[in-house]
Amino acid sequence: MDQATENRREFLKRASLAAVAFPLLLNCQSDTLAQKSDDVLSLIKKNAVQTNGEWNGAKDAPKDVSWRTVLSKDADKGEKMLISGTVFETDGKTPAPNVLIYLYHTDIEGYYGRNGEHRHGRYRGWLLTDAKGKYEFQTIKPAPYPENRFAAHIHTTITTKTLKEDWIDNYLFEGDRLISSRERETAGKKGGFNPILKLEKDTGGIWRATRDIQLWSA
Ligand SMILES: [Fe+2]
Repeated sequence: MDQATENRREFLKRASLAAVAFPLLLNCQSDTLAQKSDDVLSLIKKNAVQTNGEWNGAKDAPKDVSWRTVLSKDADKGEKMLISGTVFETDGKTPAPNVLIYLYHTDIEGYYGRNGEHRHGRYRGWLLTDAKGKYEFQTIKPAPYPENRFAAHIHTTITTKTLKEDWIDNYLFEGDRLISSRERETAGKKGGFNPILKLEKDTGGIWRATRDIQLWSA
């Protein structure tokens, strides 16, 4: 056997061994990652809180919770909106990974659950910040309650391994005439930064805005 043939044989042998071993390695890694995120989530869920005997939201977070999610369906009427941001530690500078965010909002007529839906309606979801503290969700722009007394808003709780689930300032939308003076005065009190978003339409016609969040001391 010449050297070139031997080299080729050796290469093919190594390649076939790698083909068998590599998927196993990948599977092991993804199993480990899934296990890790399960562990984190179960620790966070220990800090889920009830109000008037009902779980606020963190308790129901699904196992596959990710740093990004979509609350609406493609067929839903309404203006599409994409909101992203970073969650920071108490210093407002250090990104905070593994922060569970729970969100819910009204539909385009200002209602939550109808026709037997969950009391928070069908526009509800969960996010777990990534290693850089990032999160992102897509949904449709909510409407104010039908009686038009309160500004359109998104309710939000934050839960971590060390922080009990707690409500932060609602997401509000600049230009909404129903935003109260109190909401403007207290903006940023719980969750830091400005929760009154300035939406800008991108070239695809989707409203976009950023909201960062600052954690507080346990
Ligand atoms: Fe509400």
